[in-house]
Amino acid sequence: MKNAVSFLALALAFTALTAFTFSGSHDYVGSKSCKACHSNAKMGGTAFKAWDGSGHSKALATLKSAEADKIAKEKGFKTKAAETKECLECHVTSAKDEGVGCESCHGAAGDYKSKHGKGKDVATAMAAGMMLPKVDDGSAEKLCKTCHNDKSPTFKEFKFKEMWTKIAHGKG
Ligand code: HEC
Ligand code: HEC
Ligand code: HEC
Ligand code: HEC
Repeated sequence: MKNAVSFLALALAFTALTAFTFSGSHDYVGSKSCKACHSNAKMGGTAFKAWDGSGHSKALATLKSAEADKIAKEKGFKTKAAETKECLECHVTSAKDEGVGCESCHGAAGDYKSKHGKGKDVATAMAAGMMLPKVDDGSAEKLCKTCHNDKSPTFKEFKFKEMWTKIAHGKG
């Protein structure tokens, strides 16, 4: 009886472990590691330039401003904005020292970075964690609104078409 119980416990633990491994928490590599290939129209396109010049690349720097600290204080937080979890949530992709990086929208690239590119199957990259939001089917707008919403202390409105034009890259 005791053996049966411990076998069951072991089996459950094993199932939980494999489920965790396969659902995959992928590592973030940072937007700088996309630069070499995604700065060239003949290679991966010019997404890096579009991103580097946008508000997204500066979203962490924004939290280090006096204005941000003031907002955090008014919200009742005791910590500086750049150290407040509730602010970092939307302003930073991961532990990497950058703002809203490529991987906020395309998924953590640790496992798909080497599995995508010319002649490579997009499905394989997606199985390894790549996200491909689309303008046409509304999935991009849905993604934007996970951050561009009234939980943002400075939110006024979000007009998708206008805002996409400011960061447009890829086919859209
Ligand atoms: C070694 C070069 C290289 C690196 C590094 C690289 N990419 Fe790419 N990537 C490409 C190429 C080439 C394509 C275009 C494939 C095509 O046109 O068929 C591409 C396409 C893509 C696509 C479109 C889907 C697809 O598979 O065609 C996404 C999204 C993408 N890359 C994201 C990223 C992100 C995010 C990073 C950084 C974490 C990154 N890439 C790093 C070369 C690279
Ligand atoms: C992970 C959260 C997050 C997601 C997802 C996100 N954004 Fe943002 N976005 C931000 C933050 C934070 C800022 C503020 C950056 C700053 O000013 O420091 C911002 C700023 C911007 C700006 C610059 C503001 C301006 O008026 O010039 C544009 C444009 C923008 N986002 C468009 C988009 C679009 C379009 C999408 C979806 C395709 C999107 N964002 C998805 C968090 C996000
Ligand atoms: C739900 C996501 C979200 C959260 C949480 C969030 N922000 Fe933002 N923040 C954004 C977005 C998106 C923008 C750009 C558009 C806007 O103002 O809504 C932004 C813009 C800003 C700006 C620039 C405003 C401007 O007009 O240029 C500051 C400063 C800022 N946020 C500070 C903070 C601080 C401080 C916190 C924590 C108390 C915080 N944010 C929490 C999403 C968020
Ligand atoms: C705010 C979200 C967001 C960020 C940040 C972002 N992208 Fe994108 N990206 C998109 C969306 C949405 C599309 C699809 C546009 C469309 O429908 O044609 C796209 C398209 C692409 C494509 C073309 C895919 C295709 O269909 O051929 C590539 C390549 C790409 N992104 C790479 C990058 C890289 C590299 C970075 C960082 C330097 C980056 N993206 C940052 C949202 C984002």
